[in-house]
Amino acid sequence: MAEQNKNNDFCSFLKRRNFKSRLKKLTQKLKNKKIVIYGAGQLFEEINRHYDLSGLNIIALADRKFNDYEEEKFLNYPAVSPSKIIELAPDYVLVSTLKYFDVVKTMDKDKFDEKNIKIIPFLGIDFINKIKGIWQIPERTTQNVQSSQLGDLYLKDSEMTLSESEFLKNIILNKKPQKILELGVAAGASSTLILDTIKDFENSQLYSIDFNTEYYRNPQKLTGYTVPEELKSKWQLYTGGLAYKFMEKIGGDIDMCLLDTMHCNPGEILDFLMIYPFLKKDCTVVIHDITRHTQFQNCPDTCCTLFSALTGKKSVPSYTEYKYFPNIGAVELSDAMKENIFNVFMLLMLDWEYRVSDKDIKNLSKYFRKYYPQELVELYEKAVVYSKEVLKNMTEKPNHTHIKQKFRHFFKTFIPNFIEYSKY
Ligand SMILES: C[S@@+](CC[C@H](N)C(=O)[O-])C[C@H]1O[C@@H](n2cnc3c(N)ncnc32)[C@H](O)[C@@H]1O
Repeated sequence: MAEQNKNNDFCSFLKRRNFKSRLKKLTQKLKNKKIVIYGAGQLFEEINRHYDLSGLNIIALADRKFNDYEEEKFLNYPAVSPSKIIELAPDYVLVSTLKYFDVVKTMDKDKFDEKNIKIIPFLGIDFINKIKGIWQIPERTTQNVQSSQLGDLYLKDSEMTLSESEFLKNIILNKKPQKILELGVAAGASSTLILDTIKDFENSQLYSIDFNTEYYRNPQKLTGYTVPEELKSKWQLYTGGLAYKFMEKIGGDIDMCLLDTMHCNPGEILDFLMIYPFLKKDCTVVIHDITRHTQFQNCPDTCCTLFSALTGKKSVPSYTEYKYFPNIGAVELSDAMKENIFNVFMLLMLDWEYRVSDKDIKNLSKYFRKYYPQELVELYEKAVVYSKEVLKNMTEKPNHTHIKQKFRHFFKTFIPNFIEYSKY
């Protein structure tokens, strides 16, 4: 049923985008040109089902899901891994995904340019949306990652890069955790990845918590809306509050957790303190966005600080799409974490960047009292008083940071990306 609705969604989406006319133009423009379609997901399946593609000389479909695909064909077209496109030497690559630039930025464009292979969107893109797409491309990345075992799971509304998703997957495959906790679900891409990875593990379960019941990027949709029905039997989703509201229901003995929530103070620091009493001594804590502040100026460094403060064996991916350092990290907690928990409470004394509701502040005092010694709860309470002062001062003074950030993004990121991507 959900699948059926999705197909209908795509179908009306294609009509709204006037795909019929786009196809007609492409058929004329690309007559006798060799074409590879990049992206063989539901969007392409829908196009293939409802439109006549016989006027296009499609020599192959490329998709990451074909990296380890046994069959030679998919929907009657030769199916290849994206890394094979160059060998096929097509004239055009038509990118058949909703987020065009998310794909383009992962392609080794220099190699395509060298062979004079043109990359264009299958759906067509108007000027405004092109500018919007380029605006959203982060600052220049260093490496292009071509190979992956993750297939479509990466591209579907994911907020993680390919290397980050692979890192998360490998940690789960190596550790085989029974009880996993996830804070920060959004559309559900990381939940899907975790659930897909544990689907054959006996007795493994994922508990996910998100502050928002509606998907934070589009309130018309629900948090976790992309998680496929067939993976939901091992999933418990809690939404509509901070973690402390749900942790007693979820219970202890958590083997692994993923923290991916606010990325600004107190954010993940406070979240970690809410969940810590329920983690196994050697729990693996994965934190996303540990170097987000290196990608955008004036971006908070909450996750970096928390990652550094945790005690245990740390690991990061061996490669990254980012310029400086991987943006995801894991800590396998050690026995010393308990003695060092003061360090994490201490981080609450950093300036808070958003207001936590009075009700949550009060409930958290009570909650922390159950699990932590008096002096740590007092530290929390002092941090709350200080944070109120900081936030009061911030609202009283005009804040130009936001405008400065936009200017910086325009000159340092948008302009170089515009030069690089506007021809696609
Ligand atoms: C960056 S997104 C998560 C992305 C997701 N992990 C993925 O990779 O697909 C952040 C999410 O955290 C949620 N959130 C923000 N603060 C939170 C908190 N303190 N506890 C739980 N969820 C929170 C937001 O509603 C949003 O859905």
